Amino acid sequence: MSPLRPGDRLDHYRIDSLVAQGGMASVFRSTDIRTGHSVAIKIPKPEMECDVLFFDRFHREAEIGSKLDHPSVVRIMASDDRSRVYMVMEWVEGRPLREILDEQKKLSPERAVCIALRICDALSYIHGHGVVHRDLKPDNIMVDAHNRIKLIDFGIAGDTGARRLTFGKFTKAMGTPDYVSPEQVKGKRGDARTDIYALGVIVYEMLTGVVPFRASNPFVAMNQRLLTDPAPAREIDSTISPQTQEVIFRALEREPEHRYPTVREFAYDLEHLDQVGVTDRTERRNAKHLRTPQGKLTWHYVALALIPIAVFALLLLIAHRQ
Ligand SMILES: Nc1ncnc2c1ncn2[C@@H]1O[C@H](COP(=O)(O)OP(=O)(O)O)[C@@H](O)[C@H]1O
Ligand SMILES: [Mg+2]
Repeated sequence: MSPLRPGDRLDHYRIDSLVAQGGMASVFRSTDIRTGHSVAIKIPKPEMECDVLFFDRFHREAEIGSKLDHPSVVRIMASDDRSRVYMVMEWVEGRPLREILDEQKKLSPERAVCIALRICDALSYIHGHGVVHRDLKPDNIMVDAHNRIKLIDFGIAGDTGARRLTFGKFTKAMGTPDYVSPEQVKGKRGDARTDIYALGVIVYEMLTGVVPFRASNPFVAMNQRLLTDPAPAREIDSTISPQTQEVIFRALEREPEHRYPTVREFAYDLEHLDQVGVTDRTERRNAKHLRTPQGKLTWHYVALALIPIAVFALLLLIAHRQ
């Protein structure tokens, strides 16, 4: 199938402009000719049309989206007669949180908490409907001029019946691993607490201007979160309150069972920071370290040391094939 261009007609829609071109799909601002309304059309790139796994994801995204109805979740139009595979969504005003953060680096605590609470609202709704987003990151959160938000991109979201799709086989096409939870790194699908972790990373970034685990190599960054606690947010910006730091720590716990069990509890603490009790993390961290069996620690370090060797071997292999 030929790629779409502005001015083209696609069934009942007129293609107006290209908005974004991801690894697997393109998004166009378009007009529904029947109503005159703006819509967003997401369409697989021509080279993806034979990829069965991708189509599975694409169909699931449309299917999950069409059963959700909340002001902070993008609305997906039911599929009517279509001449090819694509998805029609309401047109969302505003811009991705990624763009805002790239431009402003960090946000005021008031704005960050306001946006975080609205994300909590959206997550609470989808979790209540048995859906986990699994790819929550600033690129997938649209923010308008009034700080109202909409979650988009349910490409790897899943309900209980969904097939396993994990970050265990991480590829570059999946985008940044900065918001991926430790359990996803280990190859698990994750649950609502996986989205809580990702939101913890986003709150950390909105307040400090950096993500908790930074490394030049995505595999190293993914492994760090299995082994170490993030640098305390107050070490990066001392104006962050100890209570806010504590809330972030609780969302970023490595073990899902130590995290907030539900988004509602996370939101409650963000709204009532004065009621949050602050634990002494230095002691806790040291204690944890002592309790970790030495053998297990050694294996972790051996695995970490093997990463650059594996990457090098992979590069050699690719170079040989070309
Ligand atoms: N409904 C929409 N309204 C307006 N812009 C959208 C909409 N959906 C997606 N976009 C834009 O397209 C970009 C990519 O969309 P997304 O669904 O995240 O695709 P991908 O799977 O390529 O990440 C978003 O970051 C956003 O800028
Ligand atoms: Mg996206």
